[in-house]
Amino acid sequence: MTVTNRESGTNVHEVANGIYRINTPVTIPGAGGFSFNQYLIVDDEPLLFHAGLRKMFPLVREAVATILPVEKLRYVTLSHTEADEAGALNEWLAAAPQAVPLCGKVAAMVSIGDLADRPPRTLDDGEVLGLGEHSVRWFDTPHLPHAWDCGFMIEEQTATLLCGDLFTQGGSDLSPVTESDILGPSEAFRQKMDYFSYTKNAREMIERLASTNPTTLACMHGSAWRGDGAGLLRSLADALNA
Ligand SMILES: [Fe+2]
Ligand SMILES: [Fe+2]
Repeated sequence: MTVTNRESGTNVHEVANGIYRINTPVTIPGAGGFSFNQYLIVDDEPLLFHAGLRKMFPLVREAVATILPVEKLRYVTLSHTEADEAGALNEWLAAAPQAVPLCGKVAAMVSIGDLADRPPRTLDDGEVLGLGEHSVRWFDTPHLPHAWDCGFMIEEQTATLLCGDLFTQGGSDLSPVTESDILGPSEAFRQKMDYFSYTKNAREMIERLASTNPTTLACMHGSAWRGDGAGLLRSLADALNA
């Protein structure tokens, strides 16, 4: 793990071949420690999964710049339209002239087509996009865990599921990658914050994600996780009683 900003504690760590977790720990008044992660896939057409908060842009840009020139970014992807996923989108588009937003069809229709300074490249459910040596496949997951426009992607060469807000863990001093249980901590956080919708299609959507057999789960909040991703996803479906 490399700390890229001493004041904020922002740090980078390669969680799978060519995939870097950028982590910024924070303290939320009244709620305690928390963290925001973005994931950078380094390839011919580099992809950033989550723009990050607008106010955090200088920190994330500084971290990306330790890995590749920021102006080389090609895709800025968001799981759904909230400030931590999409807040700094236009800042990235300004910093990287070749970059475009990358999102699902619903996000483009309801938000990004209007909010973003350049039109998005949209992905159909199940569509694969090549980046060079890596490739990503998009899954629409409306309302899982929240937001109509929600979706996730798997990087197929490393079997890394960019799983956004699934398995959100509280805390600000977690290790970059863990092989120990994250379902317990993320369930504890879910009981406290109740950020999941109650879509009746959750099990079916989780099963589609499980069928990709991910070995790394690139969580947006907390540690990334390594292990039998299909098993852990099915345990999540059970915990949701979906
Ligand atoms: Fe979210
Ligand atoms: Fe989030």
